Amino acid sequence: MTVAGLFAGIGGIELGFKKAGFEILWANEIDKNACKTYRLNYQHTLYECDIKELNEKEVEKVDVLTAGFPCQAFSIAGYQKGFDDDRGNVYFEILRFIDAIEPQVVFLENVKNLKSHDKGNTFKVIKKSLEDRGYYIKDKVINSCDYLPQNRERIYIVAFKNKKAFDSFNFPKPKKIIQTIHDIIEPTAEDRFYYHNSKYYKQLKEEMKNRDTIYQWRRVYVRENKSNLCPTLTANMGTGGHNVPLIIDSKDIRKLTPDECAKFQGFDEIIFPEDLALSHRYKQIGNSVTVPVIEAIAKEILKAFECANLSMNSKNVALRKSA
Ligand SMILES: C[S@@+](CC[C@H](N)C(=O)[O-])C[C@H]1O[C@@H](n2cnc3c(N)ncnc32)[C@H](O)[C@@H]1O
Repeated sequence: MTVAGLFAGIGGIELGFKKAGFEILWANEIDKNACKTYRLNYQHTLYECDIKELNEKEVEKVDVLTAGFPCQAFSIAGYQKGFDDDRGNVYFEILRFIDAIEPQVVFLENVKNLKSHDKGNTFKVIKKSLEDRGYYIKDKVINSCDYLPQNRERIYIVAFKNKKAFDSFNFPKPKKIIQTIHDIIEPTAEDRFYYHNSKYYKQLKEEMKNRDTIYQWRRVYVRENKSNLCPTLTANMGTGGHNVPLIIDSKDIRKLTPDECAKFQGFDEIIFPEDLALSHRYKQIGNSVTVPVIEAIAKEILKAFECANLSMNSKNVALRKSA
């Protein structure tokens, strides 16, 4: 089955689908730095532009359309502006592509509180917009810590055009994770990640005592995460010192490296452009998704199509015929 990704970032959703056995045909992303990283990691077509400028009639048809659309407008951090906020309005751009492509499946990812935002109205609008187009939808909040040691709750929405496939689809059951934060954190890192020259060093030294946890710098204090998980990696973790995950390693106090953060999102390996600033690397990873969660959902989508006895190696059209 074929996939296209809107709001692709560095392609975490695409990677999850690819690992599950899907073929990615194209993606769209506006941010030039994210596009640079994307191109280093994937070969398929990447349209680098504002989604508003991408012609839905000129892109290749696919079986699955994915979108981890910008979550700021729906998160508490984004002041809960929802569809009144321009960043939220890009949701309606997705509909334009659904209408033109008529994919078998629409896969959406967003922050957990999308469902409760504006007393449930935002979610109602999303649901209705898909149902009006003949889709049946299921949604679930999944915590990444069911798959790896990061605490990250996100909502996943899967919409099916085919009722049989919809009925057969179940969200994946949580995995029993054996990985701990120590399996991801490297024993030491480059000098630039350490805090020994920081004006906060004394304070950090006093407050950080536990080697089995990841701390977070919250502008003026350090928060310990009791759960022995990596706290939710955020897009702003590389800027202004806020939210940076901190640890004590065998040398001293330091922040997690972008590569470690990528592993906490389940990327086996990610290639960043050599000249890409650290702040952009953190942002790209924080903005992305937990790849194994996506892979597990994508596998369940495949299973649902198998159960519904639908052809899966076709490119969109044949699949639609058999539905
Ligand atoms: C939450 S992130 C999604 C990240 C992606 N799922 C990943 O794995 O990296 C949203 C992305 O949408 C992009 N974006 C925001 N507005 C856009 C627009 N108008 N057109 C295209 N992309 C846009 C942002 O640059 C950002 O990379």
